[in-house]
Amino acid sequence: ERVLGIEGTAWSLSAAIVGWDRVYAEASIPYIPETGGIHPMAAAQHHSNHIGEVIRKVLDSGVEFDGVAFSQGPGLGPCLRTVATAARALALAYDVPLMGVNHCIAHIEVGRWQTGCRDPVTLYVSGANSQVLAFRAGRYRIFGETLDIGIGNALDKFGRFLGLQHPGGPKIEALAREGRHYIHLPYVVKGMDLSFSGLMSAAKEATASHPREDVCYSLQENAFAMLVEVTERAMAHTGKDECLIAGGVGANMRLQQMLDEMCKARGARFYAPPKKYFGDNGSMIAYTGLLQLKHGMVLKVEDSAVNPCFRPDEVDIPWL
Ligand code: ATP
Ligand code: FE2
Repeated sequence: ERVLGIEGTAWSLSAAIVGWDRVYAEASIPYIPETGGIHPMAAAQHHSNHIGEVIRKVLDSGVEFDGVAFSQGPGLGPCLRTVATAARALALAYDVPLMGVNHCIAHIEVGRWQTGCRDPVTLYVSGANSQVLAFRAGRYRIFGETLDIGIGNALDKFGRFLGLQHPGGPKIEALAREGRHYIHLPYVVKGMDLSFSGLMSAAKEATASHPREDVCYSLQENAFAMLVEVTERAMAHTGKDECLIAGGVGANMRLQQMLDEMCKARGARFYAPPKKYFGDNGSMIAYTGLLQLKHGMVLKVEDSAVNPCFRPDEVDIPWL
């Protein structure tokens, strides 16, 4: 069995054909804003300009497929609609089932697939999202999440403030490595939820009187400690002994190190997939589509509307 999957919730436009044990083909043409952050309409225009090319590339591999999957949400409405339209056309043209995939769940499933962990507490940290998830009673439940902006967007905004090109996350990581002095910044955990906006404002202010390296370092220490605290509490609460990192910010080595230390201290195991699976990619949609196909989670074309606010706990997970 193989599925062709298309991802296009925001900046990434990527298609892949995936089977149970390998990626047969993958092609990506990312949208990279020239200035500022991601503009939804410009990103959607990029996707419609290039989606034919991306799909053509994976079809040219000659690998056949038994279904088509697409990122149904959450994400930017105009981007989601562009990708869904292409997926519907493909499914109809090839007369194969259509699967609508929740983007958050795809981040978790590709991580489980690539690392071999079974039933983890997942810290899912990307541009728009910051959530701690774990499987319980048939679904991935959200144990904690950001109350305002995602950690990735927060880092990207701070990066733009420093004059760095989008995405700022990796550049802030590099600057933080040169930091020497910890500056006191807000640390905001409310119950199991997180808030990053106050921390970001304080970090901006701190740049007036401190070297940017020290501010980046302190910002990362605080934001990541907040994320690790909530993750640890979800592990204690659920009794799970595996921790998985997912989403673009997961590529950050300092965050990985902090999670690894937390896991070691409680006799748990920390799992991080290969770098290419942190950010958005077609393979994660195709692989989750494969799981859905196996369990009959397919859509009629007339019921395949996108859902920009699609929450992971709306989806039954029969495979765990
Ligand atoms: P989602 O729809 O899941 O929110 P997304 O569109 O934000 O996804 P991802 O590829 O999952 O896309 O994540 C992108 C984010 O990851 C950006 O905010 C980027 O700055 C951040 N990022 C990438 N590498 C690093 C890094 N090394 N350190 C910190 N942040 C990083
Ligand atoms: Fe993502």
